[in-house]
Amino acid sequence: MKKHLLSAGDLTRDDAIRVLDTAQELLGVAQRPIKKLPTLRGRTVVNLFFEDSTRTRISFEAAAKRLSADVINFSAKGSSVSKGESLKDTAMTLQAMGADAVVIRHHASGAPHRLATAGWTNGAVVNAGDGTHEHPTQALLDAFTMRSHLGTDGGVGQDLAGKNVTIVGDVLHSRVARSNALLLHTLGANVTLVAPPTLLPVGVDAWPVETSYNLDDSLEKADAVMMLRVQRERMNASYFPSAREYSRRYGLDTARMNRLPEHAIVMHPGPMNRGMEIGADVADSGRSVIVEQVTNGVAVRMAVLYLLVGGATNDEGEA
Ligand code: NCD
Repeated sequence: MKKHLLSAGDLTRDDAIRVLDTAQELLGVAQRPIKKLPTLRGRTVVNLFFEDSTRTRISFEAAAKRLSADVINFSAKGSSVSKGESLKDTAMTLQAMGADAVVIRHHASGAPHRLATAGWTNGAVVNAGDGTHEHPTQALLDAFTMRSHLGTDGGVGQDLAGKNVTIVGDVLHSRVARSNALLLHTLGANVTLVAPPTLLPVGVDAWPVETSYNLDDSLEKADAVMMLRVQRERMNASYFPSAREYSRRYGLDTARMNRLPEHAIVMHPGPMNRGMEIGADVADSGRSVIVEQVTNGVAVRMAVLYLLVGGATNDEGEA
């Protein structure tokens, strides 16, 4: 593994399988009465959140704590960032406190990369979502969830070769879609992105995926369908005529869900716009693995922190 996890593209197939297999072992910890391992005792993990987040922030915090690390939670709101302090000065302050890992979410695409390469911290940098760019741990937890449902015997040691994954909706603003496309490709899956033309990014032809404007066409062969949130906070123009029209063409309702193969799973990274990209009854149905994705997120982030900080030696021979 590389020292940092900035992009899902940083992971080779073997790296990714290693994270997923480690997460599988760690998942058991959450089922114990005492949910803690001593692995990262004495290490410090800083969660640096410049953008709102519920599940990702809590998930990283739970993951670090379950490994017995000291956790410092920083959120831009209520900090000196609101007084205009830069990422550099914030990072250097944290460095002065000694961080072995910095988990960063930032509204600017590329901020984690800058943090990792500018020498502002000695710790391992984990990208927890940067702008519309990437969200590699989300892609890992999604792959973990797919593997546990679509693989044999929980999928340990396996990739997702030949599985058909359909990712639907606001691809343009979605770091989840980009990281998933990269990781799923590395793991051998076939990815189809379905979106209105206005919500597909320029340059999507260079991604290792197929694209389609028609959701109904790809339902029958899908092993997993991942619905994306319509990210209104990143939209400053009108990308579709109306919410109703969007939902009619790109929403997953019960009728569409019933056309999926028997074994297919329905996913969403959260937070959901119920009634918009996904019907409330679909989100709560037996095919939905949305709550499981959240549970798996903690195990996957434990695995990432363990492999980056836990003394495992990386390719460059650095601890
Ligand atoms: C996603 C994110 O923040 O990129 N959510 C998450 O991390 N669980 C997707 C989204 O906000 O729609």
